[in-house]
Amino acid sequence: MAVRDGQSMTPALEDVDAQLRPGVQALAFHALRWLGRAEALRQQLAKRPPPSEADALLCVALGCLAATSAADASFMSAGNTDFSQSGPSENSSPLYNDYTLVDQAVEAAKRSDATLHQASFINGCLRRFLRERDALMTQAHHNPQAVWNHPQWWIDRVRKDHPLHWQEILRANNSRAPLILRINQRKTTSAQYVQALLAIDIGAFPLGEQGVVLTEARPVMSLPGFAEGHFSVQDAAAQLAAPLLMDGLTAAGPGQPRLRILDACAAPGGKTAHLLELADCDVTALDIDAKRCQRIAQNLDRLGLQAQIVVGDASRPNDWWDGESYDGILLDAPCTASGIVRRHPDVRWLRRPTDIAQLAQVQARLLGALWPLLKSGGRLVYCTCSVFKAEGEQQIAAFMARQGDAAQMPAPGHLLPQRGAVNAVFPDNLMREHDGFYYALLEKRPV
Ligand SMILES: C[S@@+](CC[C@H](N)C(=O)[O-])C[C@H]1O[C@@H](n2cnc3c(N)ncnc32)[C@H](O)[C@@H]1O
Repeated sequence: MAVRDGQSMTPALEDVDAQLRPGVQALAFHALRWLGRAEALRQQLAKRPPPSEADALLCVALGCLAATSAADASFMSAGNTDFSQSGPSENSSPLYNDYTLVDQAVEAAKRSDATLHQASFINGCLRRFLRERDALMTQAHHNPQAVWNHPQWWIDRVRKDHPLHWQEILRANNSRAPLILRINQRKTTSAQYVQALLAIDIGAFPLGEQGVVLTEARPVMSLPGFAEGHFSVQDAAAQLAAPLLMDGLTAAGPGQPRLRILDACAAPGGKTAHLLELADCDVTALDIDAKRCQRIAQNLDRLGLQAQIVVGDASRPNDWWDGESYDGILLDAPCTASGIVRRHPDVRWLRRPTDIAQLAQVQARLLGALWPLLKSGGRLVYCTCSVFKAEGEQQIAAFMARQGDAAQMPAPGHLLPQRGAVNAVFPDNLMREHDGFYYALLEKRPV
């Protein structure tokens, strides 16, 4: 209900009693990954939706029922192979016994005043679903939102931007992302950390330069070395930002000033910390959100790192800039987050189609405002956790057309979300296990 009212799931879950939170979170993630199908089924079962509380409960139950192997079998038997693997692969076996699910949904309805009077309606809908499952699923099968569990505009947009890979992207969005850590190379190495995990029977393997993937998610605070700052939680795609910026920059030499780096949209500091782990440099970590800036301070503190943290609007440097230009700028710009849907299944239901153009304008303004702060010969990494081209490739093409002194250097470009279990390897994806991202590296040339 909170997500349908436009609230992000993370803060909504913070309001849930701590003891209930893991269960509520698991159900909420599942419901949001199957909401398109659940809503299509609910529409078939009841033309007029019940009051919002009852509808939410009914859709959660339908989402659980529609994810069972029997339900998916009817999707497959409809003969369209495009659709047969459209749901989360992990859900190919029933979450719960059908009748337990119906019984518990009705019990839940009876326990709240808001749904009490809808309990028999919910019971009727769910029992009808069990009786007519095949016919209802076949009908839902004609509705792309039910097939892909994304809003229609989102499906159309991904299809337009990635005509060859749109189905893999949507499928990956519906999968569960593993817990990925970035090892703090100032404290340990990924090989040593994997050994430390294996020694206590936690399955893990290295990924990329500093990444470690856990075969099963765990509470991060219970992992070895958390308090000592041995690792941060960060997806493998996000781990590419700091090396991309730092690899091409070299300090002038002993006795010379250290590299000056601006992390322009820094909170909660994941990439700020990575920059500081890689090199001894002076980092200004800027963010417009004062509360989120506190999180930068906490994260750096735990990792034993230091930056100058500034609250300010990156598009208004006159308010906070000291006038000394930077060797490197990281612009991890605000975006639709369309690349991290597998970790945030609410994002697809929260965004509106107009958000893309609005955010692209913000990104263009940030690029324009920060470019003059870069030294000649300096480098700027522009990145977004989006698969939409307006926030990636097209944004940078427009910037290059405007900015005569910018040269585009080799960078990953659009990385498409990918789960390790999938056979298809995108041409620009090397790691096979990461979120969707866009990366451009720009160098300032003398005019
Ligand atoms: C994608 S998040 C950054 C994540 C961060 N780089 C990390 O790796 O942990 C984008 C951030 O941009 C900040 N932001 C949005 N508009 C901004 C602006 N005009 N100036 C500075 N920060 C801004 C948001 O508060 C948000 O923290």
